[in-house]
Amino acid sequence: MMIKGMRIQALIWMFFFMIANAGLFAQQTDSIPENVKENQKCLKCHGNKYYSYYNDWVEGDVRERMNPFYVIDSAEYYNSNHKTFTCIDCHSYEYEEFPHPGYLRMEPSYSCMDCHGFGDEWAKFNFEEIQSEYEKSIHSQKHNETFSCWMCHNPHEYKISARTEENIKEVIAYDNAICLNCHADIDEFMFIAERENPNVLETHDWLPNQALHFKSVRCIECHAEQSDTLLVAHNILPKEKAVKKCVECHSDNSLLMASLYRYQAKEERNKAGFFNSALLGEYYVVGANRNYYLNLISIVLFGLVVLGIGVHIVLRIINK
Ligand code: HEC
Ligand code: HEC
Ligand code: HEC
Ligand code: HEC
Ligand code: HEC
Ligand code: HEC
Ligand code: HEC
Repeated sequence: MMIKGMRIQALIWMFFFMIANAGLFAQQTDSIPENVKENQKCLKCHGNKYYSYYNDWVEGDVRERMNPFYVIDSAEYYNSNHKTFTCIDCHSYEYEEFPHPGYLRMEPSYSCMDCHGFGDEWAKFNFEEIQSEYEKSIHSQKHNETFSCWMCHNPHEYKISARTEENIKEVIAYDNAICLNCHADIDEFMFIAERENPNVLETHDWLPNQALHFKSVRCIECHAEQSDTLLVAHNILPKEKAVKKCVECHSDNSLLMASLYRYQAKEERNKAGFFNSALLGEYYVVGANRNYYLNLISIVLFGLVVLGIGVHIVLRIINK
């Protein structure tokens, strides 16, 4: 019932969004977008560590500290996927009141699927498949009540990276920060699971040159089930199923070509005979970047050497 209500709400919302967007175009002379002005009402408090309000009881302005978890970085916000939104597109308009009415804290949040579960516009992201992969993941399986898409996709900051960012190192840093947000922060981790957070540096000490690996591959390369249809795999497997074998990457058919370099791999053919040439732009992965022609030449040379030795032996036998 609740869910159905939410969906209809979302549809109505989308309709208004289109109208609002049309409105934006109509008044382009005005340089500050309407939603930025609108959001200022909220960000004057939620954009800072401190806020002030007029207190009717004491009849004067009062200055208070803002809960640090409720502070929103407006630079990140206006760079995010949902930068064109007003706060009250996702939150109740009743938040315009202060103090906020107490019952609002029980207001349910939208899910991604409420807005992205229909329409061709989002087809390329394949939300349905992401949703079902996510439901199979260890996070969802173990902590269905607290975990949601928002845990990895901060509603006020999330921005697509792998699809649009050209610099692979940036993508790796961005994506890994999402995981490390919890896996390197004991409070965030314990918000979900009531146990000590294992130290990721210690649990990966079997990996040589760990710092380099964490900068050169994403956590999901080793921890998510490979997907043929998704650009970003979303089924995080239990730790027993994580990739530990070096040859999975350090070989001709490196898994990196199907995951991290999926986008590049489709466009580039094997350049100048190098295996996995898409990898070469960034670095040389031992075992994965052998050259076809060099391989061929070495085989020919080896053949010639064997032939030479053979001829030599035959000549010596004849001479005896
Ligand atoms: C005068 C300062 C002020 C303004 C303006 C303000 N807020 Fe808040 N907001 C707070 C404070 C303080 C809290 C912490 C909890 C509380 O006091 O209700 C809060 C809490 C919240 C919460 C978390 C509620 C919870 O308990 O989970 C949301 C969501 C929120 N505000 C949204 C908004 C939105 C959206 C706007 C603009 C329409 C807005 N706020 C405007 C000060 C403000
Ligand atoms: C795309 C939808 C969306 C937009 C736009 C949005 N929020 Fe939120 N906001 C959420 C969701 C979802 C949560 C709950 C996050 C969670 O469950 O982890 C949230 C949580 C919050 C909280 C509580 C913090 C917390 O961690 O629980 C505050 C405060 C807040 N939003 C304020 C704002 C303000 C101010 C704006 C506008 C500048 C805004 N939000 C715009 C979706 C949105
Ligand atoms: C309240 C409706 C709503 C919710 C909830 C919502 N989105 Fe969106 N999302 C939109 C709309 C509308 C746009 C297009 C914004 C624009 O073009 O300015 C968008 C844009 C995006 C884009 C960017 C597309 C592009 O081409 O740049 C991605 C990715 C995205 N959303 C993912 C998510 C994810 C993941 C979630 C949940 C964690 C989510 N959205 C929740 C409505 C929503
Ligand atoms: C465990 C963390 C995690 C969870 C949970 C999660 N995601 Fe993601 N998601 C990521 C990461 C990491 C990326 C890669 C971001 C990038 O580089 O664009 C991503 C990317 C995406 C993208 C962009 C993919 C593309 O093709 O460009 C969408 C859409 C998305 N997620 C939707 C969802 C939805 C919907 C849910 C919930 C059903 C969800 N995600 C849950 C971590 C997560
Ligand atoms: C919101 C916090 C949070 C985020 C973000 C997050 N995780 Fe987790 N993750 C957890 C918690 C908590 C557990 C422990 C679940 C349990 O055992 O109860 C966990 C478990 C895991 C496990 C399974 C460990 C085992 O015992 O089998 C792996 C692997 C993992 N996470 C990888 C990732 C990856 C990769 C990302 C980023 C794409 C990520 N996580 C993002 C909180 C998070
Ligand atoms: C080269 C592959 C690889 C990479 C990259 C990698 N992991 Fe792992 N990870 C593993 C393997 C294999 C295990 C299982 C280790 C074991 O059981 O001894 C593991 C274990 C874990 C565990 C479970 C630890 C425990 O004891 O509960 C978590 C959580 C985890 N990794 C998170 C991450 C995060 C976050 C990142 C990115 C910063 C990451 N991993 C990068 C292969 C990798
Ligand atoms: C998920 C893919 C992946 C896995 C699994 C993996 N590696 Fe790597 N490895 C890489 C990448 C990518 C680099 C980065 C090369 C660079 O930046 O020059 C690298 C770099 C290295 C380097 C450093 C080479 C140098 O130039 O300094 C060594 C050594 C190495 N790996 C050994 C291993 C060993 C041993 C294992 C198994 C225990 C392993 N790797 C597993 C992807 C992987």
